[in-house]
Amino acid sequence: MIAIDLPPEEYLQQRPHVSERFARIRKRPLILSVRNLRKDFGGDDQPRTVFEGVTLDIHRREFICVIGPSGCGKSTLARIVAGLDEASGGEVLLDGVPINGPGPDRGMVFQGYTLFPWLTVKANVMFGLEMGGQARSIAEQEARQWLDMVGLSSFENAYPQELSGGMKQRVAIARALASGPRILIMDEPFGALDAQTRAQMQGYLLQIWRKVDVTILFITHDLDEATYLSDRILVLGANPGRAVELIENPVPRPRSVDQFQSSEFLALKRRLEHHIHPPVETDGVDLLPMVKLTHAGDEVE
Ligand SMILES: Nc1ncnc2c1ncn2[C@@H]1O[C@H](COP(=O)(O)OP(=O)(O)O)[C@@H](O)[C@H]1O
Ligand SMILES: [Mg+2]
Repeated sequence: MIAIDLPPEEYLQQRPHVSERFARIRKRPLILSVRNLRKDFGGDDQPRTVFEGVTLDIHRREFICVIGPSGCGKSTLARIVAGLDEASGGEVLLDGVPINGPGPDRGMVFQGYTLFPWLTVKANVMFGLEMGGQARSIAEQEARQWLDMVGLSSFENAYPQELSGGMKQRVAIARALASGPRILIMDEPFGALDAQTRAQMQGYLLQIWRKVDVTILFITHDLDEATYLSDRILVLGANPGRAVELIENPVPRPRSVDQFQSSEFLALKRRLEHHIHPPVETDGVDLLPMVKLTHAGDEVE
């Protein structure tokens, strides 16, 4: 494990506590093992490697964030873990068993709203339970419990189009958790929400995670989000994608928005920024070859 280098003094002082916390987490059972994973797209004649050599062990009830620049394969990784896509090399084990195909042991929440528009909120949450063979009355009872957990009991008979974006995602979380997954895979679930709703959803997600025995694999490109939510952060690089670093998050739990200005928070964010937005040699290449069409721009700089 690579620690965050160049941390502020305060972070160094915290370090023993952080190490102890992660030593405890490492003693928990392994839920998900990603081993030397590779994914190629394109045919045999012209394969293109999206990522390779990605290795990650996730322990029970860990909250892992994956960050990386657009196109580095974050969604592809999530889809492989979900069983919606096949790896080209390496393997993914859930509770020691290789994943091949989707299953109720994995819950998914995507950025786009994926609720069935023709079903009520409650019926959306019941859907997977009934598909899994639960009797209707029990599925209904469980759906109600999950809707209660995400604070949407009074909307059980509403249809998705009557809900705000944040509420839709709360239903999606309830639906994903209802079938009792071992791991919840979330691919930029709050990416389409406005900043205020997103912050609120992050808070809700931490509350839910504290109450439910579930492990979370959370994809994001938002550094604040990764820092606020995670136990550890897997940083993927691009071209081809690979694991650049696996970082232990030193920000103590329980988390609160007040921590956004703490030294640990800022140190970690700076570390992530270094990976995601490396300083670039511009040599003028970031200047667009603009032809001047009007004089309108003369006074703006
Ligand atoms: N089904 C596919 N066929 C071919 N290329 C794909 C497919 N899905 C994703 N890709 C390519 O793989 C790369 C990684 O995509 P993706 O996992 O969506 O990245 P991210 O989520 O990090 O933005 C992109 O270059 C994308 O164009
Ligand atoms: Mg993506």
